[in-house]
Amino acid sequence: MNEPTRPLIRLRDLKRIYTTEQLETHALDGIDLDIDDGEYVAVEGPSGCGKSTLLSVLGLLDEASGGEYRLAGVPVTDIDAEEQARLRNREIGFIFQSFNLIPEMTVRENVELPLIYRGGLTTTARRQAVDEALARVDMSARAEHRPAQLSGGQQQRAAIARALVGKPSLLLADEPTGNLDSASGERIMQLLDELHADGSTLVMVTHDPDYAARAGRRVRMKDGRIDTDGSVAA
Ligand SMILES: Nc1ncnc2c1ncn2[C@@H]1O[C@H](COP(=O)(O)OP(=O)(O)OP(=O)(O)O)[C@@H](O)[C@H]1O
Ligand SMILES: [Mg+2]
Repeated sequence: MNEPTRPLIRLRDLKRIYTTEQLETHALDGIDLDIDDGEYVAVEGPSGCGKSTLLSVLGLLDEASGGEYRLAGVPVTDIDAEEQARLRNREIGFIFQSFNLIPEMTVRENVELPLIYRGGLTTTARRQAVDEALARVDMSARAEHRPAQLSGGQQQRAAIARALVGKPSLLLADEPTGNLDSASGERIMQLLDELHADGSTLVMVTHDPDYAARAGRRVRMKDGRIDTDGSVAA
């Protein structure tokens, strides 16, 4: 029997409300979104419209206040924090605007970290996976450097190696070129293009319309909702 293909991500009426003493912010105000395995989606929209919040919820770094989130069929909104952490370690790679590498650790140690958290791999298997990830982003020669000894573009490539070392089903990138000059940014974008061509599912927040146009699909947000959602004309 042919099962219909299930989306990798399925959001229904997803909400995230931040409550402070003065203010209730509906950062996500009822998001419906399906993303299939292998899609490359750009998320755009004005500052404060909820892009980073959406990515944090997708990446299980933040919890929805309401609605439904299914990741690879798992009802994320119904499982406990421990299970969410396991799912995050297994399925998700995160790339941040500010790289978020640990300054005291070498590139190699930073990239190895998700595999240590995940557990269950021998030292040799971890080393091999780290070597492969570093080669993938052309950073093998700088494995023993610390982040401060690297350019911004090199730091971001190390961060991408860390995101993909565990072969996650979903790569999330929040303005991955936001802190880079245009040449380094272009190199990062080429790397994301290649990862997509190799089958990765990518969701990328960007303010740059030229970069957004490289994704297969552009989702534009406004005031915590999806304003437009469409395929990019080839
Ligand atoms: N921890 C928080 N506490 C309270 N409000 C928050 C918090 N994080 C985000 N918000 C609010 O939620 C809304 C959405 O924020 P978010 O960071 O998702 O926007 P964004 O689209 O990523 O903006 P930018 O393009 O500037 O990065 C904003 O109004 C913001 O002030
Ligand atoms: Mg943001």
